Amino acid sequence: MEPVTIALAKGRLADKTMELLEAIGVDCAEVRNPGRKLVFGEPTGRFRFILVKPSDVPTYVDHGVADIGVAGKDTLMEENRPLYELLDLGFGRCRLCVAGFPSGSRAVTDANFRVATKYPNIAREYYGARGQTIEIIKLNGSVELGPLVGLSDVILDIVESGGTLRANGLEILETVVENVSARVVVNCVSLKTKGERIRFLIDALSAELARRRAQKEEGS
Ligand code: PRP
Repeated sequence: MEPVTIALAKGRLADKTMELLEAIGVDCAEVRNPGRKLVFGEPTGRFRFILVKPSDVPTYVDHGVADIGVAGKDTLMEENRPLYELLDLGFGRCRLCVAGFPSGSRAVTDANFRVATKYPNIAREYYGARGQTIEIIKLNGSVELGPLVGLSDVILDIVESGGTLRANGLEILETVVENVSARVVVNCVSLKTKGERIRFLIDALSAELARRRAQKEEGS
């Protein structure tokens, strides 16, 4: 039987996803110690893992080389691929915002208003829907630097604790998406061909998340 391949986003999301998978009995020992390997087995042979860059998770799932992926809603929106989004895992929660200097920023209607972002597609759609023409400057990290060095007027980026904005004298000007958290996405064909194991996984994860929510409510 061909294993169900799960694409994990390297970094913060992978750790939390593995912890959750282990809680429902999926052995992640091999993928927890990756070394330079990129494909990892699991003792039952029912599943296997690939570790990829977060922004590549939707690509692997869309092409069907991974059946399931876990990625942030921000990445899924930016990639905008035809995947089934079956579950909100609730962690990695943050907001997608426009941020800049609290005052003295140029207006979006000013000529050559520039937005620095890792999310050019989301930015284009967000401003486009409001009929605003902007210039997008694509960055791959440290986006907050944009307004500080005069590369852009504002940034469109995720805000988790708000620490990076505060440390750089910037603040949220608009919220673009309120709840950007980790989602489980599934390849449309895989849901048919490997439906039983995928549904087992989704149901077990949902039950575990519900159990944790109930436990938290009891404790508070
Ligand atoms: C992300 C994001 C912000 C920061 C927000 O960057 O792009 O810079 O985290 O988090 P905070 O509100 O808790 O400060 P990341 O750490 O992924 O690094 P990057 O800038 O290299 O993309």
